[in-house]
Amino acid sequence: MSQITEIAPDVFKISTFISEVNIQFNQFLVKDEEPLLYHTGMKGLFPIVNEAVSKLIDPTTLRWIGFSHFEADECGALREWQRLAPNATAICSFVSKMVSVDDVVADRPARALEDGEVLVTGKFRFKFLQTPHVPHAWDAGHLFEENSRTLLCSDLFHQNGEVEAVTKSDIVSRFKEMLIEYQEGPFANYLPYTTKTEKILGRLADLQPKTIAPMHGSTYVGDGESAILDLAQAMKEVLAGSV
Ligand SMILES: [Fe+2]
Ligand SMILES: [Fe+2]
Repeated sequence: MSQITEIAPDVFKISTFISEVNIQFNQFLVKDEEPLLYHTGMKGLFPIVNEAVSKLIDPTTLRWIGFSHFEADECGALREWQRLAPNATAICSFVSKMVSVDDVVADRPARALEDGEVLVTGKFRFKFLQTPHVPHAWDAGHLFEENSRTLLCSDLFHQNGEVEAVTKSDIVSRFKEMLIEYQEGPFANYLPYTTKTEKILGRLADLQPKTIAPMHGSTYVGDGESAILDLAQAMKEVLAGSV
């Protein structure tokens, strides 16, 4: 059901395409001394994602479970994962922890990361950036792995369809198509464009990622700085003034 692809050394993408909504749901498993799963997937996906993670590591050894913001595809199955993995701790923003996660989906208290804080999992170093309303939600944040220069970017760069696992080609045009399509249907106003959006995206571009790993669609390998600046322009064109 799911496809596993190594997008950077010891960083694995687990991708499940759900045809009813024409979207891939991607989780990322990072093999390290302290294994990390980024996005849990929805509760309904748990058996599929668990099966995929079990091919990579013993899932009971999971140490960290990260996600961008409180939403079913980001952290809906957190409790299921924590019941399976006794030492797994959720990592998220302070707002996420306080406003939703600890009360609604966590089996044990989450660890709130401060803006700029680095979590070392062994050979990998995950820097947390607080990014309110980017991609969306008050509690949003991003993790950037400094050694492989991988940005786990949640709903940014969302592409619909059953697309390839990894690409070196432009993914911004597909992201822009999705934005236009969503603006015309029930998922309108999926991503907001606020007075802070451009500045926050500029900060992500300054990280100069080599790999950009969205939750929906292909992973992009290439000039991440330019890709994020192009994405910022696409968001401005489609969304600024629309809500
Ligand atoms: Fe989201
Ligand atoms: Fe999502």
